[in-house]
Amino acid sequence: MEQTLLILKPDATMRRGVGAAVFEQILNALPDAKLKGFLEIAVPSHLAEKHYAVHEGKFFYPWLLQFIQVGNVLATVLEGEDIVARLREVLGATFVEKASPDSLRGKYGIVGGVNVAHASDEPANAEKEIALWQKEAQLDLSQDGFEAINAYIAKWLETPIVATEQIRQICQDYAREYLNRDIYQSEITELLIEECPDWMEAELSTLANAILGNMDLDRDSDR
Ligand code: CDP
Ligand code: MG
Repeated sequence: MEQTLLILKPDATMRRGVGAAVFEQILNALPDAKLKGFLEIAVPSHLAEKHYAVHEGKFFYPWLLQFIQVGNVLATVLEGEDIVARLREVLGATFVEKASPDSLRGKYGIVGGVNVAHASDEPANAEKEIALWQKEAQLDLSQDGFEAINAYIAKWLETPIVATEQIRQICQDYAREYLNRDIYQSEITELLIEECPDWMEAELSTLANAILGNMDLDRDSDR
């Protein structure tokens, strides 16, 4: 049976309500999927590099390595018929602005490539990625992911998700002139504090920096 690797990126993991909502909606959209393994970790740089090796050399690769290491990620494997394509459909297009408003990236993504989650793009890559995460992160597929994910949902679903639109607006304001970055970073950090109950301000400031960093890619490339 086909498997795929789902990784909630730091923007969804640190915003606990977003992570819980994303898991809940994935379970609802893919009710036949089996969930195998569940892991919350800080991605070590050697794993980040291997996971994103296909993007090495691209203009966004350094940002991507930085972003995935801003905070913890949540990893799990979904198994089911045509699950690779079906999970990507639920997630939506890569860029938040291009993702359908009904998709998870459209709903919860902040801006550009700050887009909630990674999902394998084809079955052969899924196999490679799953093997990598088993080896390098001890993702244990014999563990029932369903139970762990339901516990996560129960714990965090009530956490407020109140900042998405405001942070998007701040990013648009920043991208008009690319000035006063520190001020925009502080404003985003303040908003994240409301949504990220178990992270320190300094950690949230790092996430805010990565969000603006994705906007900087727009300035520095013709993406
Ligand atoms: O994640 P997905 O498979 O949809 O996209 P990808 O092309 O494999 O790119 C990996 C990740 O890099 C994206 O999810 C974005 O977070 C980021 N990215 C970006 O920020 N800017 C780009 N021009 C391309 C990718
Ligand atoms: Mg990809």
